[in-house]
Amino acid sequence: MTTSSAPGKIILFGEHAVVYGRPALAVPVTQVHADVEVLDSPRAGIWIEAPDVNLHAEVNSLPSDHPLAAVINKFYAPLSSPHFRFLKMGGQRGIEIKITSTIPVASGLGSGAAVSVALTRALSSHLNHPMTDEELNAFVYEIEKIHHGTPSGIDNTVVTYAKPVYFVKGQPIEMLKVGHPFTIVIADTGISAPTKESVGDVRRLWMNNKSYWETIFDKVGIISFTARRAIEAGKPALSNVEAWEVLGELMNENHTLLQEMTVSSPKLDELVNAALRAGALGAKLSGGGRGGNMIALAQDDQAGAIARSLKEAGAKNTIITQVA
Ligand code: MEV
Repeated sequence: MTTSSAPGKIILFGEHAVVYGRPALAVPVTQVHADVEVLDSPRAGIWIEAPDVNLHAEVNSLPSDHPLAAVINKFYAPLSSPHFRFLKMGGQRGIEIKITSTIPVASGLGSGAAVSVALTRALSSHLNHPMTDEELNAFVYEIEKIHHGTPSGIDNTVVTYAKPVYFVKGQPIEMLKVGHPFTIVIADTGISAPTKESVGDVRRLWMNNKSYWETIFDKVGIISFTARRAIEAGKPALSNVEAWEVLGELMNENHTLLQEMTVSSPKLDELVNAALRAGALGAKLSGGGRGGNMIALAQDDQAGAIARSLKEAGAKNTIITQVA
């Protein structure tokens, strides 16, 4: 049996503008994860069991654009060894794939990317077809394109490498060095919102007035760039509250620009305001928006109280995570 796991993620700064070439910062969230087991089976075919989405099916019975079928078919496509051909044609020996995930779907936490990364890694190891992280990342990016239309590639990158990243579309990956750990409270609106829709809506805005939206994206880019410098500076520069306040203020500014892009929602704004009232140094939506999750920067000793306030304000779930 082969197992593989991939974490969730949050975007700290720069979502949406990253699709248009501006930098963005993302970090893995290991408290939630997608897990895949692959094992040989005496039953012919490739069987998928995903109890979270109530799926138990042979891959050929799924539509070819089904997210899991897309990964498996793309994985098998270039493999020409008789064993793989035999398997795919429903030979005597098959495999069973079990997929579970604690990452809420369509919530901005990268659930699709995490399932694709864990599944591809488990297949590549079980079927003895090694892939480097670079190859895996490129592979999952192609899958992301099927589901998200025009993704920047940030989700698959942060999930594949499971490290904080400073990401610019089409450029070599830069890891984000965290000079001094900091605490983020994540809160789920409980409203699922497909990234494809918000990305598509921002594209329509941009198509109608490119020069205006390019200036907005520039502003977001400067926020990401400044936030990176603050995060990397670490001690002693960030060991005082004032320096964290700068980072928090950058989050607030980023949220205002996301509101302007129409990707916030009343519930996200309500949770952002609740976090700020409870003492967060800054807060913003994270990911595609409209629903899904928001994040708040917290001083360590206030994270619990902020999480409680977010619950009282209607958050379905909260996670406290350290970025280190
Ligand atoms: C989604 O996590 C981040 C977006 O910027 C989309 C993308 O970059 O592909 C909204």
